[in-house]
Amino acid sequence: MQCSWKFMVLLAVASIAIQYTAIRTFSTSRLGLLCLVGLAPTGHAVNCSPKDLAQVTSETLEGYGCDDIFSHTSSSFPLHTFDAKNRTHILILATTRSGSSFVGQLFNQHPEVFYLFEPLYHVQLALLPRLTQSRNLTERRAMLGAAKDLLRSLYHCHLNSLESYIQPRPAKHSTDKLFRRGASRSLCSPPVCEASLDPKEQSLVLADEGECVRKCGPLNVSLAADVCRAKRHAAIKTVRIPQITDLRALIEDPRLNLKVVQLVRDPRGILASRIETFRDTYRLWRLWRATGRRPHNLDLGQINTVCEDFLRSVSTGLARPPWLKGRYMLLRYEDLARFPLEKTRELYSFLGLVLDHSVEDWIINNTRGSSDPSSRQKFTTARDSAANAENWRVKLSFDMVVYTQTACQPLLGLLGYKTVFHPRELRNLSQSLVEDRRFLPFH
Ligand SMILES: *[C@@H]1O[C@H](CO)[C@@H](O)[C@H](O)[C@H]1NC(C)=O
Ligand SMILES: *[C@@H]1O[C@H](CO)[C@@H](O)[C@H](O)[C@H]1NC(C)=O
Ligand SMILES: *[C@@H]1O[C@H](CO)[C@@H](O)[C@H](O)[C@H]1NC(C)=O
Ligand SMILES: *[C@@H]1O[C@H](CO)[C@@H](O)[C@H](O)[C@H]1NC(C)=O
Ligand SMILES: *[C@@H]1O[C@H](CO)[C@@H](O)[C@H](O)[C@H]1NC(C)=O
Repeated sequence: MQCSWKFMVLLAVASIAIQYTAIRTFSTSRLGLLCLVGLAPTGHAVNCSPKDLAQVTSETLEGYGCDDIFSHTSSSFPLHTFDAKNRTHILILATTRSGSSFVGQLFNQHPEVFYLFEPLYHVQLALLPRLTQSRNLTERRAMLGAAKDLLRSLYHCHLNSLESYIQPRPAKHSTDKLFRRGASRSLCSPPVCEASLDPKEQSLVLADEGECVRKCGPLNVSLAADVCRAKRHAAIKTVRIPQITDLRALIEDPRLNLKVVQLVRDPRGILASRIETFRDTYRLWRLWRATGRRPHNLDLGQINTVCEDFLRSVSTGLARPPWLKGRYMLLRYEDLARFPLEKTRELYSFLGLVLDHSVEDWIINNTRGSSDPSSRQKFTTARDSAANAENWRVKLSFDMVVYTQTACQPLLGLLGYKTVFHPRELRNLSQSLVEDRRFLPFH
């Protein structure tokens, strides 16, 4: 069943397959796949014989599984580079404005974790340049094959796979175009960044993303890959994977030892935060707030997509299917905001990693009380976190809240976010709208 819709997706967006193919090196089966959809590029000696097609079809539908339609990396490089058993690979599955930068820091600050901030940005930009905010499910899913392929490579420290998507294409494995390079400590510290050899420089470079980019010079991707290999673990944060089931093939891959932390947040909080951040995209919502009248052409899909993706993922996770055993943890942003240290300890215990004191120090410095202005800029959501997590209650109008909670009703119930029925209830911050719930990982 899963196969058939994925196949439809493939047919519908074959043009993406072609771009993807142009980006990566050709492999027989992929060419076969293009034959299959009648889109084999001319100028290549492709034999679209029935035999080839049969082979590709069976390979696609059975051998690789449909999840891996685009994924051919497994044959293009050796996978047993290191002892997978000792290496934990972490994925932060999130959506924009759900607190994912903060959660990313909980790994970025760990000296034994190689952390990458949103590498899939480059996949989206290369394959769907005009659709950076695409909510079209068909289109989003079309990117997934490429995205998963890249994730697998990155966890194995084949960072050069990422080069294929960076524009302009890096020469000699050197680039200054890596998205948010400064968000990754490993990429701003020696040996990747020699500018920060002086301890004073180093703390400056690590405290400020812009400083890292300015002081460290172009990124040597080969060197970064060496560092990735030298670290015990790797963590990747992404807002570009819609649902947990999209990751099933990676989770089930024993070589990968992948553990997923799904970060969720009250959709009303996400909405309020997006309205502030993505001012153009959410212009009509601001208009609604300003005028008190809902614009007729308001794009309701913007919030519906979040709620649908969350609902499907969380329902799957809470149903505890065998393939998620020991591999899935649900984390509510509000809980992390209220109990950052306690929740971080839970997180590390789920991952089976030792929580380093530098992570704890970072939490203490960045959750409340610190007066360091550079970190305040970046983590306003983290600062005085408990209050901030619920400050949407004074930022959205009552109508907007009612609309959102109606659209997202089943999700709110599932995650323990209370609905409000009266403006007085909404604005009375002494009453939390977050129910006490524990979502424990299962083993
Ligand atoms: C792998 O982990 C085990 C147990 O934690 C440890 O004894 C062993 O030394 C580790 N191996 C390597 C290569 O790090
Ligand atoms: C989504 O994208 C597909 C492929 O580009 C297109 O056929 C379909 O009409 C789009 N759906 C919506 C709702 O825009
Ligand atoms: C990048 O680092 C590698 C070592 O991993 C080195 O051999 C190479 O010369 C460096 N490239 C540049 C452009 O500095
Ligand atoms: C926390 O703040 C103290 C004092 O400003 C500073 O010395 C220390 O390096 C900070 N630690 C982290 C991990 O940010
Ligand atoms: C806010 O809620 C608290 C706790 O339920 C209640 O005691 C208080 O009277 C409420 N304040 C207002 C202004 O309604």
